[in-house]
This record gives sequence, C-alpha cells and structure tokens, in this order.
Amino acid sequence: MISKTMESALSKQVNRELYSAYLYLAMSSYFESVSLKGFAKWMRIQAKEEQAHAMKIYDYVVARGGKVAFMDIEAPKGKWASAGKVFEETYAHEQKVTGMINALVDMAKKENDHATFEMLQWFVKEQVEEEEHSADILNQIRIVGDIPGHLFWLDHQLGKRE
Ligand code: FEO
Repeated sequence: MISKTMESALSKQVNRELYSAYLYLAMSSYFESVSLKGFAKWMRIQAKEEQAHAMKIYDYVVARGGKVAFMDIEAPKGKWASAGKVFEETYAHEQKVTGMINALVDMAKKENDHATFEMLQWFVKEQVEEEEHSADILNQIRIVGDIPGHLFWLDHQLGKRE
C-alpha cells in the first residue's frame, strides 16, 4: 500500500505530465499555424508521450492500491514569437520536470518506499533523454538561424519522427 503523502505527490505528477501534454499540443498547434508541419508533428508525438508518462504513474498508483486525485490542468499559452522561443521553453520545462522527478525520488528514499523508488528510475532515465532532445533541437535552430525561411530543412528532419 502506498502512503497518502506519496499518493498525493504522484497525483500531482500525473497532473504535471498531463499539463506537459497540453503544453506540447499547444506548441504543435502554434507550429501548424505558421506552416512548420514537421515541428508540429514532432510536438504532437511529444504530447502523446507525455500522456503515456501520466498513465505510467496512474497505473502504478492503482497497482499499489492507491487512488489518483484529479485536479485542474493549467492552460498553456497559445502563441510564441518563434521556433527558437518554443524550444527555449521546452528545454526549460523539461529541466523543471527533472527537478520534480528528483524531488519524488528524494521522497521515496525518505519513506523507504523501494517500489516507488524503483518505478521512478524509469523517469530519471527518461528525463536525461527529454533534456537532451530538446537541447539538441534548440541548438540546431540556433545553427540554422531562427528565421522561418531557414527552418525548412530542420522542419523536414523533425517531420520524420514516428
Ligand atoms: Fe514527462 Fe517530458 O517529461
């Protein structure tokens, strides 16, 4: 059985993962609006991954006999100044999520909750990739120049994500 403190902390994380999905879907919609279809596809897939992250935690809480508490999902903004600005925010957001995962790991350690600690190790590794991918794309945008006309090659590359 999971502790009430851990159940509540994991419920909050389900909410934050769903917010991430919402944020990336808003970014996808922004990219659609400026005809960067490859970027839009990349973000749409990212949004789906975030939903999967939320469900991974949800399923874990259920498996431990807990109950996820549902709360309002914050509304993301819908407009950005450029592709570079989107990825600056994405990278910063993923760094924030890493901090949240680390805080959950600390809590699991403090509670001697080995099962939660073990479940969270997947997220610890996932955050290394999440930060790496968003930082890589941000750097690539800076290399090609954050100007719509210069982004088409990168747009084509990102559109290959499955
Ligand atoms: Fe669920 Fe992008 O971390």
